[in-house]
Amino acid sequence: MMKNIPVFTALFMLTAFGSSAQTTTAMLRMQESKTTINKNIYGHFAEHLGHCIYDGIYVGDTNRIVPNTVGVRLDIIAALRKLKVPVLRWPGGCFADTYHWKDGVGPKKKRPSMVNKWWGGVTEDNSFGTHDFLNFCTQIGADPYLAGNVGSGTVQELSQWVEYVNGSGISPMSSWRKANGRDKPWDVKYFGVGNEAWGCGGNMTPEYYSNIYKQYATFMTGGGNSQLFRVASGANGDDYHWTEVMMRDIPQNMIEGVSLHYYSVIDWNAKGPGAEFSRLQYFSTLKQALRMEELILKHEAIMDKYDPGKKTALVVDEWGGWYDVEKGTNPSFLFQQNTMRDAVLAGVTLNIFNNHCDRVRMANLAQIVNVLQSVILTNKQKIILTPTYHVMEMYNVHQDAVMIPVTLQNVFYIEGTDSLPALSVSASRDQLGVVHISLVNIDPGKTNPVRIQGIVPGMKLESAKILRSDRIQDHNSFDDPEKIIPRKFLQAVMKEGDLQVDMPPASVVLITLHE
Ligand code: AHR
Repeated sequence: MMKNIPVFTALFMLTAFGSSAQTTTAMLRMQESKTTINKNIYGHFAEHLGHCIYDGIYVGDTNRIVPNTVGVRLDIIAALRKLKVPVLRWPGGCFADTYHWKDGVGPKKKRPSMVNKWWGGVTEDNSFGTHDFLNFCTQIGADPYLAGNVGSGTVQELSQWVEYVNGSGISPMSSWRKANGRDKPWDVKYFGVGNEAWGCGGNMTPEYYSNIYKQYATFMTGGGNSQLFRVASGANGDDYHWTEVMMRDIPQNMIEGVSLHYYSVIDWNAKGPGAEFSRLQYFSTLKQALRMEELILKHEAIMDKYDPGKKTALVVDEWGGWYDVEKGTNPSFLFQQNTMRDAVLAGVTLNIFNNHCDRVRMANLAQIVNVLQSVILTNKQKIILTPTYHVMEMYNVHQDAVMIPVTLQNVFYIEGTDSLPALSVSASRDQLGVVHISLVNIDPGKTNPVRIQGIVPGMKLESAKILRSDRIQDHNSFDDPEKIIPRKFLQAVMKEGDLQVDMPPASVVLITLHE
């Protein structure tokens, strides 16, 4: 977090007038650590969009070429288990408000097809449905987060979905589930009540939607064991009025979370390339990414007014970088390359979420495979893990650890006449007392040294890892899948009880300390 404005100004002046890199300090405030970083901040999102599900996660249960279990790729299951995906949102996105879950259960051959009207008008044959998704979640060890259809569905349809997946008593929906081969309920906890109700979810006003929300939420019961966690469709970026209305008009006992969607986009009409971007485009993307902190602070302030006890979570259930699609790919499929820029973007965003973990208790990166800022890309029998995957994996040590507040005296990354805080940091202590510090230097042209203070006497440096590459445009490819992977980092050393870290240009570092 950015603090100590006078120091900023002084360092800005030094940097602006061409001094060499200045050692800055980050102070760990160990005694103030009290809030747990909810593991769900490391959540993901899978939509029926492009090749996220079909020819991505799911290759079909008759596929004999790509190793799979009931149609789901084994390599993807293994990679996502290793990533420790805590929660996975499905089936959209905009698709969710066109999706009728009953079309996706029962014998596959009998399932009706529909047109996926949001994403390219392709045929959706419903072969990947509720059972397929929930069983996939079990396989990767993630909690499912179902996004209900409010825009074109009914109260009854969503209420019956809850009953179908969670009902343990004798009811038409639980009997139907059993007839479809699943005896035990899945006990799904997380449900979204529509998606982007201000846009593709129905073009509603917040006042209208908050009433609709209450109607849907009232009937979301189903006799299951889980206490449902219902998430209201939330604001688009800086639409603070939307959050105000949700918090003002929905009683606290009816809403466990309110969402926020925010993508790092340079310009919706000129998003720029996913890989061969300019340095100015890199700067602009990171500038947009860093806005996340301002958005969270302002939405948080509104939520605090109505809910000072912080009962309702802010759920950033869509975030990430959004660029032009790769040349030669279907423009509706939103397939983009994933570079070191995305690694840096993920690192700074996750640091922001960690530092605001008292209110941000879930976030879902868009989207998990082959769409937008994906952690996995597929090509026939091959997959690659993107730089974003590696950041999410390096950072998973923060899941359910206690956040350590950090005061950072920042330095600036200057581009032309504009500048951004160059460094980003968050830290946590896990249940075994191990301390993890994640640092990002967004400056692509300069090493920034940091002295980390406030380390408990006697703590030792156990290990340090770095993700970086020679160019910010670098990415992994099917020919060179391990060009960018975490490597041992040697520029972190203990010095007189402090930790001295020389952060290379455009790098993400994870440091582990133990007693
Ligand atoms: O992630 C792509 C789309 O972006 C989602 O479907 C929608 O919710 C958002 O506008």
